[in-house]
Amino acid sequence: MASPEPAHGTVAEDPRRRLAVLASGTGTILEALIAAGLPIVVVGVDRPCRAVQIAEAAQIPVAAVERRDFSASFDREAYTVALVEALAAHRVGTVAMAGFATVLGPAFFPVFEGRVLNTHPSLLPAYRGWHAVPMVLAAGETATGCTVHLATSEVDDGPILAQERVPVYPGDTEATLHERIKGVERRLYPATIRAFIASIGAAPDGTGATTDERGRR
Ligand code: GRF
Repeated sequence: MASPEPAHGTVAEDPRRRLAVLASGTGTILEALIAAGLPIVVVGVDRPCRAVQIAEAAQIPVAAVERRDFSASFDREAYTVALVEALAAHRVGTVAMAGFATVLGPAFFPVFEGRVLNTHPSLLPAYRGWHAVPMVLAAGETATGCTVHLATSEVDDGPILAQERVPVYPGDTEATLHERIKGVERRLYPATIRAFIASIGAAPDGTGATTDERGRR
């Protein structure tokens, strides 16, 4: 008899495909990633938030690395090391940030060898930062969008993997516009992560040889 599919997707044998999702807020992007059946092995949070309940309902382990200091003397490096250790306990190979509100130190990124993804509610490089949606409204733009990109130590920077345009309507508030953008993110981010994970270890020349196999030739 075939084994039943686990609720949150099958983890392929390549450990680099073991996915962590980092969230701090309402977690609706996390919900979409879970619904897409991505191989999420842990959800990391920096504060109590709805994302915890979403992960628990899907029986996905939660790594709560709570940030208690929001002052200028916040020890970002120590926090980053603690988060890396919590993810290492789940043998995480790829990280998807989904509304994670703590900017991580530069030590985070080399650990995952370029496999940290982010979704941002603007058409990068325009409107970086946490306030992208109100900034678009304040500037009187008639269109904005969302961007999925590889994350680096520069906030909302790094190679762009996918972008989609979203209209701004007269009378939009931050809430209505952000919700319209998130509607697109909930489709674009899972699809982009799925393609990214599938490409891990695949040969760029389409031969199907893994990078490791090529290295042995
Ligand atoms: C998304 O718009 C994402 O781009 C941004 O934070 C939001 C997260 O939304 N970084 P939610 O908490 O998953 O609803």
